[in-house]
Parts: sequence; structure tokens; C-alpha cells
Amino acid sequence: MALIDLIKERYSCRKFDATKPVSKEVLAKVLEAGRWAPTAKNLQCQRIYVIESASAFEKYEQCTRCRYGAPLALLVTYDKNFVFQYPESERESGSEDVSIVATHMMLAAQEAGLANIWINLFSPNKVKEVFNLPENEEPVLFLNLGYALPDSEPSPRHFERKELSEVVKVVD
Ligand SMILES: Cc1cc2nc3c(=O)[nH]c(=O)nc-3n(C[C@H](O)[C@H](O)[C@H](O)COP(=O)(O)O)c2cc1C
Repeated sequence: MALIDLIKERYSCRKFDATKPVSKEVLAKVLEAGRWAPTAKNLQCQRIYVIESASAFEKYEQCTRCRYGAPLALLVTYDKNFVFQYPESERESGSEDVSIVATHMMLAAQEAGLANIWINLFSPNKVKEVFNLPENEEPVLFLNLGYALPDSEPSPRHFERKELSEVVKVVD
């Protein structure tokens, strides 16, 4: 399938089949796609926690209500010791790096037939505490993965795309 078709076919799944696990082989493909994401100065600040056991999901559910029945989730964080500090601004690359890693994984998941959704409705401090993250790690998202239930469908918001003319300007 062409990349543009895969991108358009993907939607945020909020109805996963909780009884259908994701195989180790499929998970490995998803993680490998994240490994090849570009990062600032190639510092690879991303850290990924695989959540699949009942005990791990008990922690997950202390942090967010947005599991939607997913049998697998990835907690994506960045290590502050491996971010690039931009010299001409206050910004550093952590969230940017991790967003690219997560996008690679999301599209690789889609290609492998996995439904997916990006979750950031949580308190970072709570996630740090519950998952006992190292002091230098900042959580950015959970990526829920699994197989969609037959009646899963995109939310109406999925179809509300701005026209390119609203978001793209050609510079004179
Ligand atoms: C950065 C980010 C954070 C999001 N956080 C949540 C979330 O916490 N809970 C949720 O149900 N959906 C979340 N979403 C899904 C968005 O609502 C969804 O991507 C958007 O409405 C477009 O729909 P689509 O992904 O089906 O095309 C998030 C998406 C992004 C990119």
C-alpha cells in the first residue's frame, strides 16, 4: 500500500479487541520502525516501556482512562541527558524526537494491521511516580496497540481536515 493511503486509512482506535494479543514478531516490527526514526544529532533520547502484563496495565490505568481495551501499550519517554539543547533558543529536542519515533511506530503498526491511538491525557508527574521512572526521564505519550473490534470506526473528528490553503502559505 502506498504511504499516503496507509496514512489516510489510519485512525485513532477507541474500541480494541481486548482478547486478541499482539505477537512478539509484530511488536518487534513496530519497535524497529521507532529505532530508525531520526533524532536531533542522532542522540536517540527515546526510552520505550512495553505494557502488556496485568500488573503493568494496573499501573497504566492509574494514569489514564484511555486504554479503550487495548491489549498492549507503549509508554514513550525521553532521557533528558540525551536531548539536543538548541543553541539559539530555550527549546530542546526531547518531545520532537519522541514524536517522530512514535509516529514511525504508529505507521508501522498500521502497516502490520494493528489499530492504534496516541494518548497524552495523563499527568506526567503521576506517570513518573507510578512507573517509577528515573529522575532524568520525561513521559510524552502512551501508544495503545491491538486489533480493532468489528464495530470500531473513526470518530467524526477524524474526517475534519483543514484545507491545505488554511495551513500552508507560500512565502514571497
Ligand atoms: C498528541 C496527541 C495526543 C492525543 N491524546 C489523546 C488522548 O489522550 N485520548 C484520546 O482519546 N485521543 C487522543 N488523541 C487522538 C486525537 O484525538 C486524534 O488523533 C484526532 O482527533 C484525529 O483523529 P484521528 O487520529 O482518528 O485521525 C491524541 C492525538 C495526538 C496526536
